[in-house]
Amino acid sequence: MGAASELPKGPGAPRVWQSLAWQTRPIPYLERCRARYGKTFTLRLLGVDPFVMMSRPEDVKEVFTAPPEVLHPGEGASILLPVVGPNSILLLDEERHMTQRKLLLPAFHGEKMEALRGLVTETAESEVDGWTTGAPVPLHPYMQSLTMEVILRAVFGLEKGERLDRLRGLLARMLRFGMSPLSLIPQAQRLGRLHPTLADFQRVREQTDEEIRALIDERRRDDRDRDDVLSMLLLARHEDGSPMSDLELRDELMTLLVAGHETTATELSWAFERLVRNPASLGTLVSEVDAGGDEYLTATIRETLRRRPVLAIAAPRRVVAETAIGGRTYPPGCHVVANIYLVHHDPDIYPEPYAFRPERFLENEPGTYTWIPFGGGRRRCVGASFALLEMGIVLRAVLARMEVRPGGDGALEAHRRRSITVVPGKGAKAILTARSKKPAPAPA
Ligand code: HEM
Repeated sequence: MGAASELPKGPGAPRVWQSLAWQTRPIPYLERCRARYGKTFTLRLLGVDPFVMMSRPEDVKEVFTAPPEVLHPGEGASILLPVVGPNSILLLDEERHMTQRKLLLPAFHGEKMEALRGLVTETAESEVDGWTTGAPVPLHPYMQSLTMEVILRAVFGLEKGERLDRLRGLLARMLRFGMSPLSLIPQAQRLGRLHPTLADFQRVREQTDEEIRALIDERRRDDRDRDDVLSMLLLARHEDGSPMSDLELRDELMTLLVAGHETTATELSWAFERLVRNPASLGTLVSEVDAGGDEYLTATIRETLRRRPVLAIAAPRRVVAETAIGGRTYPPGCHVVANIYLVHHDPDIYPEPYAFRPERFLENEPGTYTWIPFGGGRRRCVGASFALLEMGIVLRAVLARMEVRPGGDGALEAHRRRSITVVPGKGAKAILTARSKKPAPAPA
């Protein structure tokens, strides 16, 4: 009997059909599969070993805590290699992965993040002040430009000026290639001029690398005290005491941009898409912001990440040595996948899972294996506390300045896939009106 036939049941449709459904309508497809096959099922997609979708918290725990030599999440991200480079934490497994993780993690500790609060607040407020008021606008592009600015200033440590302007333009172009990995495959270029060519990509990458090299060089010579992530990485040391090389620094900076920019922008867009359709929650949140509190704000962010996780699944872990999960043995040649969306919409875990109700997180703290928007275990999102800090600051900056109303007919915005993220179908359309009342300051 072949390995594939031992996997949990799943749709029997041809791979091409399953891939199409997964790419174009991921959320309804997941719901349909769960209704038919239960909490664990297998999808067979084109060009990859089967994905076993898991959504029982006890199985998710086993996936997240399995030994590193048994499951390899890094291999699946190899499509990003041209953008993030071979040293990227996203692509590595086992020892090499842990080495990069140990170098990155201290820069993202809670107290280091707090030191960035002022910079992120200043960036967010100045962006929001430039937004159009009085007419329906999609918020997603605003959020993309805001989170890009935050990364350039708080992660790359750039100050306003020519280098920031040049890198902003170059990185936006690099990301466009990253969002369309098809553009990096030579065969796809022959299909026409829809995708930029590989030569274009290489030119942009060379210019970007040059700018980043110059930035690193300059910063190695700068002995001022700084709070940005690059400064922390320049102080990081390998176990043998050696600093990170220029190439390692370049690859991890690109990784942080790729992993942290679109995800946070999308999640912020969903926060507003949800809030304008839940006026009672919006009202409670605005009152709290005006009073300078943050309890309901934290609960709203947690509920947004539960109800609309920007990544429907954690990084698929490729089984490289036989392993047992949930009482079943998985052979090499398949992936085990913690299904974030299905865990978050399991009525056994969250009563009325489709209701947007921040209150549920006033009553209960999120559980390690039942609230998993940032994945878990040794691959858990490095930037989780950065993303949570940024989301809080942006929500506060917007709500303190603007009244926010639905921008369309008020109907739900459908999920739309954009590369690997799931975004609001109309870009979170809203009408913003400037508020006159000055709110109370944020808590210290
Ligand atoms: C709301 C925003 C964000 C969400 C929802 C999110 C979600 C995730 C998820 C689901 C993973 C995979 C975890 C796993 O497979 O177990 C991940 C990995 C990662 N994220 Fe985030 N992320 C966000 C923002 C950020 C930010 C702001 C940064 C950095 C500036 C960042 C950096 C990373 C990195 C470096 C990894 C790879 C970790 C590893 O492989 O060891 N993310 N993120």
